[in-house]
Amino acid sequence: MAYQTIILNRSGFISTITINRPKKLNALNKETINELHAAFKEADLDPKTKVIIVTGSGEKAFVAGADISEFSNFSAAQGKMLAAEGHAHLFDFVENLKTPVIAAVNGFALGGGLELAMACHFRLASDNAKLGLPEVSLGVIPGYGGTQRLPQLIGKGRALEMIMTAGMIDAHQALNFGLVNHVTTQEDLLPLSETIAHKIARNSSVAIGAAINAVNANYKSGVNGFEVEIQEFGNSFGTEDFKEGTTAFLEKRKPDFPGN
Ligand code: COA
Repeated sequence: MAYQTIILNRSGFISTITINRPKKLNALNKETINELHAAFKEADLDPKTKVIIVTGSGEKAFVAGADISEFSNFSAAQGKMLAAEGHAHLFDFVENLKTPVIAAVNGFALGGGLELAMACHFRLASDNAKLGLPEVSLGVIPGYGGTQRLPQLIGKGRALEMIMTAGMIDAHQALNFGLVNHVTTQEDLLPLSETIAHKIARNSSVAIGAAINAVNANYKSGVNGFEVEIQEFGNSFGTEDFKEGTTAFLEKRKPDFPGN
């Protein structure tokens, strides 16, 4: 599929999605959200892709938020629909993908940008990154999962301080809070993301998908994560990857996972 606001690049087992509206600091408008949905789906369905990396184009921004110009005159009902569609179409969608998704945060990650990074399975940041949820400075609250995922990742008090002050934290503070796993130079951000992707790709993609499902279960109301873990653990024993992984270990060789 030809995209206008993003670039999808496949190289080996890594698909990299670059949000490409640098003049608008990669702000998420409706078209970008739709294209991101399509690109994540395309990469997830691609049998060769084992890891997806998402980043922003240019040196300034990952994503500077939802596109404010698109919703400034919305009614309450339209605002509710905007959030609900965004959750379903992009943020929950990304979080629940079975293919690991790494956010390479290369600059401003504000509002919907930080929310997108938080919906990814984990995050790396360049040392110029600035992260925040500035929505209350616009008279609105985070609507793409920020009120839920930020406290999950950094704790309620820190999250509420960030949300209430509408302030930004730098990459090192984000590392200190556990919001990002690694901080590096802008130059090394994608190479480091790819190095981690290589480590992931050596392992069973089926088992990784099952682990994502079990970890996510902890954050779903009405779902017992321990029961999901037991179920997924049991299912693993029926996979070809399990046969290959255990056989390779016993034969003292590296596994060659078939991915099913
Ligand atoms: N929505 C729409 N447009 C945005 C945007 C957003 N969230 N963030 C930045 N842009 C646009 C600016 O309007 C500007 O466009 P223009 O050149 O046509 O006027 C362009 O991107 C560059 O931004 P600018 O503000 O000039 O850059 P800066 O370096 O002075 O400031 C920020 C950078 C990130 C501090 C500032 O752009 C900002 O505060 N953005 C909004 C952040 C926000 O509130 N996000 C949450 C939205 S819910």
